Order: sequence, then structure tokens, then C-alpha cells
Amino acid sequence: MNISIFGLGYVGCVSLGCLAQNGHNVIGVDVSEDKVGQINSGIATIVENEIDDIIAEQHKLGRVSATHDVKYAVQNSEISIIAVGTPSTDQGHLNLDYIFAVAESIAEALKEKEGFHVIALRSTIMPGTCEKFARIIAEKSGKEYNKHFTVADNPEFLREGTAVKDYYNPPLTLIGSDSEIGIQKLSQLYNELPGELIVTDIKVAEIMKYVNNSYHALKISFANEIGNICSALQIDSHEVMEIFCKDKQLNISPYYFKPGFAYGGSCLPKDLKGLNTLAHDLYIQAPVLESIDKTNEIQKQRAVSLLSKYFGKKIAVLGLSFKAGTDDLRNSPSVELVESLIGRGFDVSIYDQNISIAKLTGKNKEYIQKRIPHLSNLLQDDLEQLIQKSDVIVISNREKQFSDAVKKLSGKVVIDLVRLNVSEIADNNSYIGINW
Ligand SMILES: NC(=O)c1ccc[n+]([C@@H]2O[C@H](COP(=O)([O-])OP(=O)(O)OC[C@H]3O[C@@H](n4cnc5c(N)ncnc54)[C@H](O)[C@@H]3O)[C@@H](O)[C@H]2O)c1
Repeated sequence: MNISIFGLGYVGCVSLGCLAQNGHNVIGVDVSEDKVGQINSGIATIVENEIDDIIAEQHKLGRVSATHDVKYAVQNSEISIIAVGTPSTDQGHLNLDYIFAVAESIAEALKEKEGFHVIALRSTIMPGTCEKFARIIAEKSGKEYNKHFTVADNPEFLREGTAVKDYYNPPLTLIGSDSEIGIQKLSQLYNELPGELIVTDIKVAEIMKYVNNSYHALKISFANEIGNICSALQIDSHEVMEIFCKDKQLNISPYYFKPGFAYGGSCLPKDLKGLNTLAHDLYIQAPVLESIDKTNEIQKQRAVSLLSKYFGKKIAVLGLSFKAGTDDLRNSPSVELVESLIGRGFDVSIYDQNISIAKLTGKNKEYIQKRIPHLSNLLQDDLEQLIQKSDVIVISNREKQFSDAVKKLSGKVVIDLVRLNVSEIADNNSYIGINW
């Protein structure tokens, strides 16, 4: 395929060389005279393993060239990959000036182009950028989105230092697009690459780099805080983290990665508090660990805020224990939710098949007697009846019984804190997910 790449920095130069090595003809475009000159002399514009040889060889084969002439590049390519810089502004916002400058120049070039043109934003951009990019092109060129051109998001996952290796071994290839031709042409570019090809909504693709990189930063900071606590106790932090990584069920796994309600139960809050207190006693600062509980509190308040506009309505909370399949009420976020609602004068009833007042014992009983002393007045034992007489149904754990009951519902407000099967519920009800 004939491809143009805008921006000949780390991402652009590596893509230029690697796409050419995969047999494509690639024209680089940059505002820098030096970078255009370097590519036209067969020299890489960056210092990076393997890239010098790749650019020299592909230049010799006539598959790579560079220009300042946007019209030439657009006329002679069917796909334009945008890899210009997106630095931070002084206030921490993303500076998208280079991105939109490219949109203006491509729009000019498209005025004179016959045939469909695919534009793939490879730079890291905020959600909504592809849409704005497409709007600029449509307005300035007079061409129609998805009829004459399309704009897709196609984020890059390479890391400097191992950029060529990463290019050829991506964890996955992501295309955010609403155009059949766009998806088909971009998929062809990455035919030879291993890893899953994922086609998704444009905004989902746009936010992915931010989610990934924020998580990578969190991993590093979490490991460093654990390291700082361990070293104060003369424990080998590397051995600790190696063992941590061996747990592929709960630690290094998709488990616990589903947005929803707050955590609770008898272990997570207690053990987190224990580690924070230990760090404090050792004079170790651990702001990541400290802020976990704050985030959890915010999630509980969020559920209360979602319900605030239903004051005066009959509210049914389905699930009181901290998770499905248990009667453990200690530190259950549902208990705190109910407590807050009662405190605010809401009309609340509760259903939980695992909770029987008569059977509650020990700490569990003590805990609930302190938090909701008149629990027995609120607990209902007939789920169907409770749902029928309630206006708002709050689902707070993933009992199968709840999804079955809610599917049959009609005309109720459903506030889902755990993400039941959304499509089945949403049709007949006013459905609100806590964070989706
Ligand atoms: N560097 C990385 O490891 C990496 C990895 C993944 C994603 N990204 C993202 O990719 C994007 C590019 O990053 P980079 O490190 O390659 O940037 P870079 O600064 O190395 O290169 C950007 C290039 O764009 C050129 N440019 C600016 N305006 C232009 C215009 N109007 N027309 C043509 N060229 C123009 C600049 O001259 C420069 O050569 C950023 O959004 C970045 O966040 C970077």
C-alpha cells in the first residue's frame, strides 16, 4: 500500500521503517528540514536500536522518502498516519496544536484528491480528537466524512529503546473506527503483526493510551511504595514482588478490574489500613496506598448521589452483604449505603437471601447492630413482591437471582452498582450504571 506518515520523530520514523520493511511504500512528512533531509539520505531521524539499518536498507530499495509537500504526500497515498507530537501544556492539558495544524494541511490537499482517503491518528490524543479532526477536514475541504475520507484512532504502544522490537511485537493492535473501508485498510497494514487485532469505538480507542500509561505509572509507584516499606523492615522487596507476580488468579489477572461499587468485607479494608499504619510507624510516605481508601469512600458517596434525586420514592436495595454468596456484612459498602440513605430520610427496603437476622452471630451481628439496629424492619423475604412495590431497584451484588428478577421488570428505575447484563435490563426500564 502507499502510505504517508506525518511526523518523523520516534513513532513516525519507526513506523516509516517498519511499514516499508513489510513491503509498503512510505512517504514521510515533517516540518523539520533536517528530518526530511535525513530520510531522503537514508538516515534515521532518531537514535534507536535497529532503526539505522532498516531506514538505510528501505531507502536503498526506494520504499521510503520524505517531503514537506503535504499535497504530494496525500495525492500519492491512500492512508495518512499522523504521528506528530502531543506535548503537555504548562497547565497539564494536552497540546493538540500540531494535530490540528496537520488536519488543516490535509484538508487543503484533499480538496484536489479523487478517491477515498484514510487518516489514522497514531499520536496519543484525548477522546473527541478524531471527531474534531474530521470536522476540520470536512469544513475546510468540502469533502464528506466516511464518503470521501475517514478518521480513525490507531494508538501506538511502542517504548523508546525497544521501539522496533515493540513495533513488531505489540501486545495488541487497536483500531477505533466507524468506517468499513477504514477498518479494512488499516487492518491490512498490520497483517503480519502478532497479537490480537481489536476494532472498537473511536472514543474507546482514544482513551486507551491514557488508561494504559496511568496504570503503568501506578504499577511503578505501587511497587516503589512496597519497596520502601519492605526495605525499612529489611525485607527483600524484589523477592516480595516476584512472589506477588506469581499469583495469576488475583494479582496479575483481569480479576478486580471491573468498574463498579466500592470494595468492602472483612479483609481488604482491614489489611490496607494495617499496611498504611505500618508505613506511618516506619515514617515511610505512601500516598498511593493512602489514597486507595479515599477513592473507595468516593465510590460509596457516588452511589448515594445517584439516588439523591429519588428522595420520597420507594427504594429496594438488592444485596446487603459485601459480595454475592456470603452473609458477611462487615464493612459491606451496601450497609453503608443503606445507613446513609436512612440517615437522609429515604424509604428503604432490603432483600438479601443470605441474611437471616436469626442466624447472624459474632462480629457480623455486632457490626450490623451498630450500623443498622432496626435491620429486621427493613429486610424483606419476598424478592418479587419487594420489586413490585418499589420505584427504584438498587442492585448491589451479583446474585444470579437479581439478574433474573430484573430482566422481567418493566417501568422501574434500575440503579446497577455491579453491571448486570445491561442490554437485557435497559430496554424496559430507566437504567443507570454507577460508572458506565
Ligand atoms: N515516543 C514514544 O515512545 C511514544 C510511544 C507511543 C506513542 N507516542 C505518541 O506519539 C506521538 C508522537 O511522539 P514522538 O515521540 O514520535 O514525537 P516527536 O516529538 O519525536 O516527533 C514529532 C514530530 O512531529 C513533527 N511535526 C510537528 N508538527 C508537524 C506538522 N504540522 N506536520 C508534520 N510534522 C510535524 C515534529 O517536527 C517531529 O519531528 C505523541 O502523541 C506521543 O505521545 C510516543
